[in-house]
Amino acid sequence: MKIVFTRKIPTELVEPLKEKYDIFMWDRENEPMPHERLLQEMKDADAVFTNVADRIDKQLIEQSSSLKVISTMAVGYDNIDVEAATTHGIAVGHTPGVLTEATADLTFTLLVATSRRVVEGMDLIRRNEWQSWGPFLLTGQSLYKATIGIIGMGRIGYGVARRAKGFEMNILYHNRSRKPEAEAELGAVYCSLEELLQQADYIVLLAPSTPETKNMISHEQFEMMKETAVFINTSRGTNVDEEALYQALKEGKIFAAGLDVFETEPISNDHPLLTLNNVVALPHIGSANVETRMRMATLAIENIEKGLAGERLTHIVNAEIYGNGK
Ligand code: DGY
Repeated sequence: MKIVFTRKIPTELVEPLKEKYDIFMWDRENEPMPHERLLQEMKDADAVFTNVADRIDKQLIEQSSSLKVISTMAVGYDNIDVEAATTHGIAVGHTPGVLTEATADLTFTLLVATSRRVVEGMDLIRRNEWQSWGPFLLTGQSLYKATIGIIGMGRIGYGVARRAKGFEMNILYHNRSRKPEAEAELGAVYCSLEELLQQADYIVLLAPSTPETKNMISHEQFEMMKETAVFINTSRGTNVDEEALYQALKEGKIFAAGLDVFETEPISNDHPLLTLNNVVALPHIGSANVETRMRMATLAIENIEKGLAGERLTHIVNAEIYGNGK
């Protein structure tokens, strides 16, 4: 059986598989496999180890006649046509849980960096423009005891809320369903999206990317925010109307934004958002600490091995392929 790895991952993870499987591994770590090449390699593949940057679409799924498992090294799977996979009985696996704390850490990093203008401070020094201590030099917003509004109280949202508690923040959240444990343990208060946008000093977007969440934060939502609000997105770029975000930041409708994700990735260095001082932009590194990425890769391989052995994946996206009772 053949497994296609669309990125180079550490040898120690792949080597043991070579005894059992025919392995094709794209030889670049930080460069995507061209789609044409992916289509070609997938023609006789039984499984694919993929990531958020690959497009696993209907065409690819339908032309890969022996495909049994699509395993992404990510919790999000909006790059995969899950419906097409399900139609063809192909298991789709992902890696929830293991990246919760790393992503919550990075979300908090962006909160701190944007509110206290950390990157602007560094740039000032780099430009050799730091002349003296100034009474209001690079003054930002206070984090301690401020109000945070978390949109999407899943595992990562919960992790962010736990960190916010350490800063004695008031925690508001909006989610499809109420989270009694977050309310009881962390004092998080459920509210409507409108209430959250109006009341929060820090708005953290952690909703998954679905047709319903596309551009869920646009002109109308930015209008509701405080002028001192800081907006953070560590979910998916497609959840935010980037043009509306640019206008809000440029016109001072909000204070700053911290972004780890973009509508189209990678962004180039002439992206309009990068012309603004009140933006901290990162290259989709929410889960990027060594330990977490190793655990994600290991779990993605485990999903493949289980699928190829005819077992249920450890973390399955489309459980319906197993039918009832499995
Ligand atoms: C995910 O897991 O979905 C992240 O975006 C990549 O780490």
